[in-house]
Amino acid sequence: MKIAISGKGGVGKTTLAALLGMAYAESGYRVIIADADPDGNMASALGIPPELAEGITPIVEMGDLIYERTGAQPGTIGSFFRLNPKVDDIPDRFSVEWEGIRLLVMGTIKGPLAGCVCPESAMLKALFTHLILGQDELLILDMDAGVEHLGRGTAQGVDAFIIVVEPGQRSFQTARAVRKYASGLGVRHCFIVASKTNNESAHQFIEEHLPDYEILSFMDFDPDLLRADAQGSNVYHSAPRSAMVARQIKSKLEEFL
Ligand SMILES: Nc1ncnc2c1ncn2[C@@H]1O[C@H](COP(=O)(O)OP(=O)(O)O)[C@@H](O)[C@H]1O
Ligand SMILES: [Mg+2]
Repeated sequence: MKIAISGKGGVGKTTLAALLGMAYAESGYRVIIADADPDGNMASALGIPPELAEGITPIVEMGDLIYERTGAQPGTIGSFFRLNPKVDDIPDRFSVEWEGIRLLVMGTIKGPLAGCVCPESAMLKALFTHLILGQDELLILDMDAGVEHLGRGTAQGVDAFIIVVEPGQRSFQTARAVRKYASGLGVRHCFIVASKTNNESAHQFIEEHLPDYEILSFMDFDPDLLRADAQGSNVYHSAPRSAMVARQIKSKLEEFL
């Protein structure tokens, strides 16, 4: 199963991805979290110590590996290279395991090469499409705030999108844009998780504005999550109330998927 987590910046995507990954890992799933945000901070949400996190090189920055697999130097456009490089060993070799979760930091193609047909993007695409999983395996994609990555096909082949919203029009707009792109990619399910709500009227506000969306749960405002961020500690262990919400979301997903 592959789940992509998307939404406006700062709504709580990384927090939810980490909580959900932990909930699945706890119940015996083999979980891979792919950090696909150029400004990724999943390592911190999992409580990986900074010394260890700093040592992680994003896949797109592994020049030698990309050269070895594609036959072309990264940063080149228009050269000949293999569009389907071998990637099946990469999750095992290059992920960092923490709390039973394998974290794979993808990195992003920045600058003039963004969106290009270049060795780096061939590598990322192959990796995303390769990550086809067995039973009891789960891949969670922690995406960046924008929707343009969707156009680059990294989210192709996911079973569901979870779009995180907060009680505000701007995050609703992003949700609609994400759903439009996702359905264009042929993704069958788009769910909503509302974050940072704090009372019944905030729940109603979201239900009223997104009437035609399946709302999985409300991840109410939880000061323990802010504390976890301040300390760089694992969100699941630090915020028991939100961890319980993550377990509820997991059960709901199991009904739908
Ligand atoms: N339900 C919540 N209650 C309180 N704080 C939250 C909640 N969800 C996220 N946060 C906080 O909001 C900030 C941004 O969350 P993050 O998950 O990094 O967002 P994103 O990945 O969408 O940019 C973090 O400090 C996080 O602790
Ligand atoms: Mg994030």
